[in-house]
Amino acid sequence: MALTGRAAVITGGSSGIGLAIANMLKREGAKVIIGDVQKPPSTDDSIMYCPCDVTKFKDLENLLHQSCKPYGHVSIWVNNAGIQSETRHRPFSNKAMMDTVRENVQKILSINLQAVIEGSKLAIRHMKDHGHGGSVINMSSLSAFIPLSNAPVYSATKAGVNQFTRAAGLHLGPENPIKVHAICPGFVDTPLISDMRQMIEHEVGEKLISADEIASAALELISPKDPNMQNGSIMKVYMKDGKLIKEVFDFPGAFRGKKVLFKDL
Ligand SMILES: NC(=O)c1ccc[n+]([C@@H]2O[C@H](COP(=O)([O-])OP(=O)(O)OC[C@H]3O[C@@H](n4cnc5c(N)ncnc54)[C@H](O)[C@@H]3O)[C@@H](O)[C@H]2O)c1
Repeated sequence: MALTGRAAVITGGSSGIGLAIANMLKREGAKVIIGDVQKPPSTDDSIMYCPCDVTKFKDLENLLHQSCKPYGHVSIWVNNAGIQSETRHRPFSNKAMMDTVRENVQKILSINLQAVIEGSKLAIRHMKDHGHGGSVINMSSLSAFIPLSNAPVYSATKAGVNQFTRAAGLHLGPENPIKVHAICPGFVDTPLISDMRQMIEHEVGEKLISADEIASAALELISPKDPNMQNGSIMKVYMKDGKLIKEVFDFPGAFRGKKVLFKDL
């Protein structure tokens, strides 16, 4: 088992993709701690639950603190919690952008982007302090590349997650034992899109991806086969002509060390 003895925190791990990642990491031998506003369906010796609203920094700190109590330190941190409330009651409505009220915009930004930034910083600082290295995985979305006209705020947060991940990876650098990556899934069969399930299959014309397939992608980023995978790189996972495609997306770095590589831009 590849992850025996490692402690892994997963935000939003009580449902959908987060729950699939929790179960997969458990099968690989990790001790899992789920931080979520709702309880997971079950807990046991290998899956602990800690109530956590990722928009509250104190909750994130407490999540880390509670995780360290039994396990000493955390070496895997998955910023997965996310919402898509623009369209929850209006699937594929292009009115979403004008309709989204300020409080809702604020909520989507706080959960989908700010909490990813705060969670990453907290985890990276902790991993540095413990000197064992580690892996931070940020859950983004294909909508960062192909914006959803019915979910402009959601799409913007995911583009932000990608750019933050790339910059954080460059900041840490290639030799750093702490790695940060993002995953950009297409449509995944989870409660997040349950209202839109049939419409997506009909309009997009592709099967939905299973949450387990995204969990496998997360595992590939935590234990990469390619030792030269760029720190900060992003994996797209999507269906094309009925086949699952996984594509690691590297990118030109604006700053590597002290050099500004304009020719790469
Ligand atoms: N389902 C898809 O098609 C899809 C596609 C691309 C990306 N994603 C991303 O995957 C991630 C997981 O989504 P999912 O599809 O599994 O959805 P989901 O609704 O099944 O799970 C989301 C989880 O996040 C938790 N959560 C929500 N707000 C929270 C908060 N403030 N603090 C802590 N936890 C909170 C929920 O309680 C839930 O358990 C999200 O970031 C989402 O944007 C999903």
